[in-house]
Amino acid sequence: MSIRTIGIILNGVTGRMGTNQHLVRSILAIMKQGGIKVSDDLTIMPKPILTGRNESKLKALADKYSDAQVGKIAYTTDLDKVLADASYEVFFDSSGTLQRAAFVEKAVKAGKAIYCEKPTAITTDEALRLAKVCEDGGVKNGVVQDKLWLPGLRKLQMLKEQGFFGDILSVRGEFGYWVFEGHVADQQAQRPSWNYRAEDGGGMIIDMLCHWRYVIDNLFGNVKSVSCVGATHIPTRVDEQGKTYKCTSDDSAYSTFELENGILCHFNSSWNVRVRRDDLLTIQVDGTKGTAVAGLRDCWVQHVSATPKPVWNPDIPQPINFYEGWSKVPEATTYDNAFKIQWELFLKHVVVGTPFRWTLREGAKGVQLAEAGLQSWKERKWVDLAKI
Ligand SMILES: NC(=O)c1ccc[n+]([C@@H]2O[C@H](COP(=O)([O-])OP(=O)(O)OC[C@H]3O[C@@H](n4cnc5c(N)ncnc54)[C@H](O)[C@@H]3O)[C@@H](O)[C@H]2O)c1
Repeated sequence: MSIRTIGIILNGVTGRMGTNQHLVRSILAIMKQGGIKVSDDLTIMPKPILTGRNESKLKALADKYSDAQVGKIAYTTDLDKVLADASYEVFFDSSGTLQRAAFVEKAVKAGKAIYCEKPTAITTDEALRLAKVCEDGGVKNGVVQDKLWLPGLRKLQMLKEQGFFGDILSVRGEFGYWVFEGHVADQQAQRPSWNYRAEDGGGMIIDMLCHWRYVIDNLFGNVKSVSCVGATHIPTRVDEQGKTYKCTSDDSAYSTFELENGILCHFNSSWNVRVRRDDLLTIQVDGTKGTAVAGLRDCWVQHVSATPKPVWNPDIPQPINFYEGWSKVPEATTYDNAFKIQWELFLKHVVVGTPFRWTLREGAKGVQLAEAGLQSWKERKWVDLAKI
């Protein structure tokens, strides 16, 4: 058995996504499970180094998670030095969206394989340019498309493959929860303030339509056209320093997508809703033979044969409990963390060349949908998507 160590630069890792999803639940979790077993003869073992601007934050993070199993986690503020070190083959970026391009370009020049958070940019031109930089540089590259590996969405995929739905007619996604404005001391905002400032790359449309693009393209069919209305429902919020700021980006998006195959998808995305549904994201798929409603993990189904026949009569209490008559799809397999699964696929792609189709070019399609959504809102019209 040989162990193939792979050096990974984790940039922007003191942030929310970098720390929780990428460092702790992916890279460290892979190290703690003994690496990625590729075959009886080969195991891939990550060797991370944390990079960023603030030495004390990096040190605190490295100290917090260094232990007997993963050893002492390395960190540095000298990105150029670590980019010049050939033992680090992968550059990962979860810094701010607007910082991404400069980092990716530098890392491509250094010959690193590129993996990064979405969105890769906030305009399609820039996202495509960055994809081309990677392609021309001849480096393997990938973008996080984590929702594809959520257990709930994998169950939808399984039902589709089994022909459960008959013909799929429509899909409705309901996403979001209440993000506190921060005006009172005991209810501080639980998301970074840049999310609500357009000039810093924030906004619900740019954030979430990127996700909806790959979810819809992969599960239901290629998106052909979008109609979208955004809103800034909350005009001011309080930032990390306790200062009130003006919200300059949309915080909610009401979008309808028409697919090439005729399926209609409607997704509401909002930071200004309170949850009375099964999960923070629910996706309902209605087909001629059955309906499924997936949350992040669970999925409920109702076959046509179990469908009740309601009668409109508000003069009497509703006789049907609509939550009855649904079955929960059992756990068919073990579902690992979605980010970790994609990391494992990417590292195998880098080391042994297994296929990996979630490239920066694919990621650019998400940016394209977001940009078209913003255009649709501004011009109050349907916007067709050009082929990428
Ligand atoms: N896949 C997902 O579901 C998902 C969810 C949320 C955010 N994101 C994306 O992840 C990225 C980070 O979002 P977040 O919520 O973690 O934000 P965050 O503000 O918590 O983290 C950003 C990090 O980048 C660092 N940073 C900023 N500028 C830098 C620079 N010049 N050099 C080095 N580091 C720098 C910040 O210090 C911070 O640590 C964004 O692009 C966002 O769109 C993806």
